[in-house]
Amino acid sequence: MKVLITGGCGQVGSHVAELHLQRGDEVLAVDNFDTGRRIHLPEDHDRLTFVEGSIADKALVDKLVGGFKPDVLIHTAASYKDPSDWHSDMLTNGVGGVNLIQAAKDSNVGRFIYFQTALTYGLHPQKNPIPIDHPKNPGNSSYSISKTTTEDYLELSGLDYVTFRLANVVGPRNVSGPLPIFFQRLSEAKKCFVTTARRDFVFVKDLARTVIEATDGKGHGAYHFSSGSDVAIKELYDAVVEAMQINNYPEPEIRELGPDDAASILLDPSRTFADFGDVEFTPLKDTVKAAVDYYRTFGAVGGYTHLKLDEEKK
Ligand SMILES: NC(=O)c1ccc[n+]([C@@H]2O[C@H](COP(=O)([O-])OP(=O)(O)OC[C@H]3O[C@@H](n4cnc5c(N)ncnc54)[C@H](O)[C@@H]3O)[C@@H](O)[C@H]2O)c1
Repeated sequence: MKVLITGGCGQVGSHVAELHLQRGDEVLAVDNFDTGRRIHLPEDHDRLTFVEGSIADKALVDKLVGGFKPDVLIHTAASYKDPSDWHSDMLTNGVGGVNLIQAAKDSNVGRFIYFQTALTYGLHPQKNPIPIDHPKNPGNSSYSISKTTTEDYLELSGLDYVTFRLANVVGPRNVSGPLPIFFQRLSEAKKCFVTTARRDFVFVKDLARTVIEATDGKGHGAYHFSSGSDVAIKELYDAVVEAMQINNYPEPEIRELGPDDAASILLDPSRTFADFGDVEFTPLKDTVKAAVDYYRTFGAVGGYTHLKLDEEKK
């Protein structure tokens, strides 16, 4: 099977690439290193081709999709690291997405796999857990508006697609959200802050296994990839402390939620379990341990967030 992966050097893209390579598939990965790192993909592999470039470049996308003619296009690339940089978000998440969808249509790509943010439902969803048919209301951030635009085009495209709507995917190579920040600050014995928010953290390798099933033909349309139960951010902090095996650590300051943060993001996974079967979710403790092992070896770069945090709150 031939698979084109955008954002191939990112957390999700590189784990999916790894599984495809392990089972003998041919992979073409593209990345512009906005948040991803080249070390996340093998340097020298005879079934992997890596291209440095941006999906916002229509000529490049047409050349890659038209030349490689993938059976499946797995679109994980995303821009989110500067919430005020609407231009970059729209170029990657909007224009880049549309470039890929049009190229996939032109080259008769059999399947298109997309990754959507749970923020597409807004900060105050009408129901919690959020059902898969909940109306979209993405006006809360540039990231969520631009990500939703491409999902809407995908629905319009007539392509055979799967979109995995995600809340929090973590593990090795995770560069966004609280995990790398906790690791970095605790390494320097600095105090952290945690909000009162609750989140459903899932292990990136559990998602990657399900993505492989989707590339093989399982599922059609939108799915939540979530365990269905959430934990307080403080529990994530405690798991990082435990994985780092530190005895004297500062208790975090508990802060109220910012105006662009959601109290809880819990996605109802029942459609996923119905179509993909039961997913075996790795316990949070093991997920965090795998991330900490990665940060210890390769460093905790990033700590990006799409939230508008004040500098002093970081
Ligand atoms: N991780 C999560 O918790 C989460 C939650 C909701 C949605 N998602 C979605 O899942 C997908 C994967 O997320 P991730 O955690 O792997 O993020 P990531 O930052 O690790 O990976 C994104 C990759 O895309 C690359 N990229 C950015 N702009 C590009 C461009 N213009 N051209 C080519 N490559 C580009 C980055 O360099 C990076 O390697 C994204 O689409 C994201 O919106 C992730």
